[in-house]
Amino acid sequence: MKTVIISNRLPVKIIENNNEYTFIPSEGGLATGLGDVYKNGNSIWIGWPGIEVPEERQQEVIDKLSKLNLYPVFLTQDEINLYYEGFSNEVLWPVFHYLVTYAHYEQSYWDCYKSVNKKFAKAALKVLSDKDKIWIQDYQLLLLPGILRNKLAQSTIGFFQHIPFPSYEIFRLIPWRDELLNGMLGADLIGFHTYDDVRHFLSTTTRLLPVNSSANILSSNDRQIVVEAFPMGIDFDKFSNLTSKDEVRKEIEDFRAGKENMKVILSIDRLDYSKGILERLKAIELLLQLHPEYIGKFELYMIVVPSRDTVPQYRDLRDHIDQFVGNLNARYRSVNWIPINYFYRSFPIEILSALYATADICLVTPMRDGMNLVSKEYVASRNNNDGVLILSEMAGASKELTDAVIVNPNNLGDIMEAIVVALKMPLEEQQTRMKAMREVVEKFNVKHWVNNFILRLNEVKDSQNSLLTK
Ligand code: G6P
Repeated sequence: MKTVIISNRLPVKIIENNNEYTFIPSEGGLATGLGDVYKNGNSIWIGWPGIEVPEERQQEVIDKLSKLNLYPVFLTQDEINLYYEGFSNEVLWPVFHYLVTYAHYEQSYWDCYKSVNKKFAKAALKVLSDKDKIWIQDYQLLLLPGILRNKLAQSTIGFFQHIPFPSYEIFRLIPWRDELLNGMLGADLIGFHTYDDVRHFLSTTTRLLPVNSSANILSSNDRQIVVEAFPMGIDFDKFSNLTSKDEVRKEIEDFRAGKENMKVILSIDRLDYSKGILERLKAIELLLQLHPEYIGKFELYMIVVPSRDTVPQYRDLRDHIDQFVGNLNARYRSVNWIPINYFYRSFPIEILSALYATADICLVTPMRDGMNLVSKEYVASRNNNDGVLILSEMAGASKELTDAVIVNPNNLGDIMEAIVVALKMPLEEQQTRMKAMREVVEKFNVKHWVNNFILRLNEVKDSQNSLLTK
């Protein structure tokens, strides 16, 4: 019996260079969170390798990936446009993050979303056996639990959504809302990061579909579906230990040289309008306007990892960020000081670790975020218990990291004040807060998350089976 993880993206993606394929780790919380875990257990992972692979080269990719227990689902350019960029990232992503005006409800997107979910089911059925546990991940595959349930009535299916589940009033805007919910209900256990997401899902489902609910259990077609919160963690030890690696220590030293009197603020995100990047920059502008005493006293290191830049809204955002940073730096910089050090690229984990370890403040201000693992990675990297985390109350992580300085990301004054508080925070207070947060991040790490979900999935299935035999 094995665990079969299915997600849109594999934890590695293909990069093509001079007609050569190389495999590198994928970006994003899901791949980083689960990436290390699946290697250790008896599991396989099914998903898309990130680019269009021509038919004549697919076997080469299959052979290389199968050595890593990874099974590719190949998408054509049309499917990438309509299912991935279209329905997943121009309908579900904006609506689930409450940015409904960004949504384009195109029938062709929906048709392709349905057919690609079927394609994933076909790929899964080739490698699945009756006894396997199936664990489906995220919003790109909402229909997959239902499709697999129809084929394998008795199978054990878990579904976890890594992004928020919106309130009923938002979800019901989607033209294909009932089909989406019915798809999800093919699972035995449905997990979200927070209790609020669970609440929204339960109320949406009972209002839109003829299902009954008792506490967190839904009954549909004589089946019971359990809905629960499983806040995802990170590999605490990995981030904590990285800072003592020689390579990282050297980076920290180089980075700190000449910055003795400078406070370093760090922000790291994928390029995304849900991350509040422009709002964060506006808060920095406000700080420079209203508190000129801090000019020359801090630097923001802002890393934006390229993502989905074939989707128009992401391209526009990238252009706006370029413009805003250029303008702000041009107005406030001096010969030897620049307020915003902006990087539009990804970095190896050693550099990220050095930045986490060096930064006096980590600024995490998404407009909405399912969890936000950057905030946890910062905390895990602070082995001296110092540093201040400023965290948006709209991130799932704010439910656990209550010792962060919590802000409303729509309130620029609030973010600015939080930065001032952080710049002035005495070491003792930093340590009290950081220690408390480190305990949480260490205990509720990603292994705990995986084990907990799988354990619950087994329990739910056992209790369903015992109901059937009564
Ligand atoms: C978020 C989503 C993941 C997704 C990741 C990267 O973390 O929850 O499902 O894989 O972003 O986005 P991408 O579109 O590049 O897969």
